[in-house]
Amino acid sequence: MQSDVAVLGLGQMGSALASAFLRAGYRVTVWNRTAAKATPLVAEGATAAATAAEAQRSAPVVVACVLDYPALTEILDMPDGILVNLTSGSPEQAREMATRGVRYLDGGIMTTPPGVGDERSMILYSGDQKAFAETEKLLSALAEPINLGADPGLAALYDTALLGIMWATLTGWLHASALVTADGATAAHFTPLATRWLGPIAGFISTYASQVDAGSYPGSDATIDVHLATLNHLVHASDVRKIDSTLPRLLHDYARRAVEAGHGADGWARIVELLRAKA
Ligand SMILES: NC(=O)c1ccc[n+]([C@@H]2O[C@H](COP(=O)([O-])OP(=O)(O)OC[C@H]3O[C@@H](n4cnc5c(N)ncnc54)[C@H](OP(=O)(O)O)[C@@H]3O)[C@@H](O)[C@H]2O)c1
Repeated sequence: MQSDVAVLGLGQMGSALASAFLRAGYRVTVWNRTAAKATPLVAEGATAAATAAEAQRSAPVVVACVLDYPALTEILDMPDGILVNLTSGSPEQAREMATRGVRYLDGGIMTTPPGVGDERSMILYSGDQKAFAETEKLLSALAEPINLGADPGLAALYDTALLGIMWATLTGWLHASALVTADGATAAHFTPLATRWLGPIAGFISTYASQVDAGSYPGSDATIDVHLATLNHLVHASDVRKIDSTLPRLLHDYARRAVEAGHGADGWARIVELLRAKA
């Protein structure tokens, strides 16, 4: 084997991964369906494999980062070794991939390509624990490796859940930006206050985590009755400015349903009961 690691898939993310391994001094074999994308990495010191199968025989560890699981399944041809799959997928896809006879680690990359190689970034891993122990040092060239344990689906589950927080937060901020810019303010003026507000919000969810686990939601900071009254202002301010109010109405609806079910004196964490699967 001529390399320490092989990287399959040299899109934006795969190229960043291969480059980070090279910068850390590892010998890297690369392969991409469109071969030209290997050229800049070869200039950085990588070895280009002619086929995906050849790449998978060139190193004891294969890092895959292609579009999706069907694309990976098409090219997967590993006789042995460790597969570290950083392709995004569902927990179910990850668990199925772990049954294919390779030593399998699934990963969720919690950054964009410019954040790869930065130790402040994190990549979530789960799956074969011996494989994690053997590859942890190598993988730390990409970002801080966070080990979630033996269930190969857990990294994808946490990844998906964290992305859900990202989309909800980004869309909340964009709605807020539409609101304030409608009255002539700028997003640039508003946004430092929004980012400062994320600090207290992080505190709220840290408090609510134990409430969600315990199934007990004391309204000791703010009650859902109070949230509902305040949500009326958000819906009203959106309507007056002819701003799409789908998001505030959704939040208003959760609060209204909780109040109608008799939980107005509880805290916001009670909403989890509306989100959980029905028995
Ligand atoms: N970009 C991010 O910020 C980010 C962050 C976290 C996770 N991810 C995940 O990383 C993975 C790659 O994302 P990306 O941003 O690098 O996407 P991208 O730039 O579009 O690259 C997609 C890669 O998949 C390859 N591919 C697609 N279909 C294929 C097939 N049938 N057979 C073989 N190769 C195939 C492409 O090859 P060609 O060059 O030949 O088209 C390319 O190498 C995705 O699962 C994504 O969700 C990305």
